[in-house]
Amino acid sequence: MTPKKKPKVYITRKLPDAVETRMRELFDAELNIDDTPRTRDELSAAMKAVDVLVPTVTDRIDQALIEEAGPNLKLIASFSNGTDHIDVDAAAKKGITVTNTPNVLTEDTADMTMALILAVSRRLTEGARILTDHPGDWAGWSPTWMLGRRIWGKRIGIVGMGRIGTAVARRAKAFGLAIHYHNRKRANPETEEELEATYWDSLDQMLARVDIVSVNCPSTPATFHLLSARRLALIQPTAVIVNTARGDIIDEAAMIQLLRDGQIAGAGLDVYQNEPAIDPKLIKLANEGRVVLLPHMGSATIEGRIDMGDKVIINIRTFFDGHRPPNRVLP
Ligand code: DGY
Repeated sequence: MTPKKKPKVYITRKLPDAVETRMRELFDAELNIDDTPRTRDELSAAMKAVDVLVPTVTDRIDQALIEEAGPNLKLIASFSNGTDHIDVDAAAKKGITVTNTPNVLTEDTADMTMALILAVSRRLTEGARILTDHPGDWAGWSPTWMLGRRIWGKRIGIVGMGRIGTAVARRAKAFGLAIHYHNRKRANPETEEELEATYWDSLDQMLARVDIVSVNCPSTPATFHLLSARRLALIQPTAVIVNTARGDIIDEAAMIQLLRDGQIAGAGLDVYQNEPAIDPKLIKLANEGRVVLLPHMGSATIEGRIDMGDKVIINIRTFFDGHRPPNRVLP
């Protein structure tokens, strides 16, 4: 019996060594050893030549690219949870299956959400920077210096109660926060009971009542600027906003204006509307200690990245074994 031909797989970014080694064993894999982001032309050429594309959130796989793809491209196995960088409708129309890597980055992203809530409320980066950048400025402990906002006993409003939102709620409850949430669909009664969570059908009403807003929904056409200028204006001036989901869920320009005007007390952001470009006004606010900015590292753990790679491999193998891959993304 002739051995089965290995699928030709094009991986757009450097992945953890263990994942790349396994991919080399299993597939005819083209890796990106030096991690230079691929240009549109490089992606287009690859999509004409291979059976599988493994993109990440930094590759925009739009309708035009998909339409140009060669006849062998049957699977886009994204190394990501979110799939807003892929035109899943266009892929379906061309008969290309799309998969993602859900579940394995839920807890890490929820941890980072809590880290940002604490960082912005308790002024962590500001305090740390004083010691590293201006150590002479610290004259010792003072009863009135570097006071932040207590989070215990406050209300968190979670926008999007999916896997990550629920994991944030579990952590927030352990920190003594009262859980409020808005979601397209109400959580089941067991989850609400476990979290002692209050459901708000009206996002507007929830935003006006909470002390911390945590954005945890996916980026879709329906959630683009879900936190619009009008809705952001409903947030209390003492409240903070944290986003570990996607930048385009918030009207970033409107949020910046409200932060500058003191109409929102602070923000902890891991994602941006035009990342990796960051609005200089956000950097200024960070330097003033009003916001904490991270470079999209919510899911960045060694274990998480290996788990994501394992999921990509399982999706590719299942697909080429003739079965429905476990993490198929439907249009
Ligand atoms: C994802 O996979 O969607 C994450 O945003 C990457 O950290």
